[in-house]
Amino acid sequence: LARGVREPDLTGRHVVISAGGTREPLDPVRFLGNRSSGKQGYALARTAAARGARVTLIAANTALPDPAGVDVVRAGTAVQLREAVLKAAADADAVVMAAAVADFRPAAYAAGKIKKRDGQDPAPVALVRNPDILAEISADRALPGQVIVGFAAETDDVLANGRAKLERKGCDLLVVNEVGERKTFGAEENEAVVLAADGGETPVPHGPKEALADVVWDLVAARLR
Ligand code: CTP
Ligand code: CA
Repeated sequence: LARGVREPDLTGRHVVISAGGTREPLDPVRFLGNRSSGKQGYALARTAAARGARVTLIAANTALPDPAGVDVVRAGTAVQLREAVLKAAADADAVVMAAAVADFRPAAYAAGKIKKRDGQDPAPVALVRNPDILAEISADRALPGQVIVGFAAETDDVLANGRAKLERKGCDLLVVNEVGERKTFGAEENEAVVLAADGGETPVPHGPKEALADVVWDLVAARLR
């Protein structure tokens, strides 16, 4: 079938997708963030809806239009994202963690704006670890047979690192994006390999984010049957 003309093979399924990047506040005006746009997560939401799924999209700091027919829940920080994912995952057939979750957050939040002082060096910013949402929902599945998908961007030893990360996280599928090497920052190359816990390896050639999304849903749908 041509892209966009899919069987509604996710009809009756509830899928949860996290998208975007978390922001960890330092004070009322500053945060620790990342460059994730949320486009891959939104593509996953659109394609799942097109394939008949009920979709909950948990959006972290994205500036994209809400996809039609999708429940959009907003989350700012990793801790808020965890709450939203756990809640939505309770009755989900599949959960896809496409969001870039900050590994660390500032240990302290200053209720007032942090001010500079003449002749004084800034205080160092202490960080603490954020919860690992993907590892947690994989270890403690809300439902038997729930399919869980993670994402990873790797530079060197992409497949070996991806394989190790898949095992560490305990999810069913890991979409490994190849970044770096000759590819300059900001380039559009988006090759991926989807690694499966059962040993499967599905290369996805360079192409639009919808095409990668459809491969992910093909692999999820095969595991839901
Ligand atoms: N993830 C998560 N919670 C975190 C960090 C990451 O749920 N606190 C999820 C991401 O959404 C992604 C996957 O885990 O689906 C892999 O993220 P990645 O940053 O590649 O993994 P890390 O274990 O944080 O490894 P690294 O040290 O390479 O950043
Ligand atoms: Ca990380």
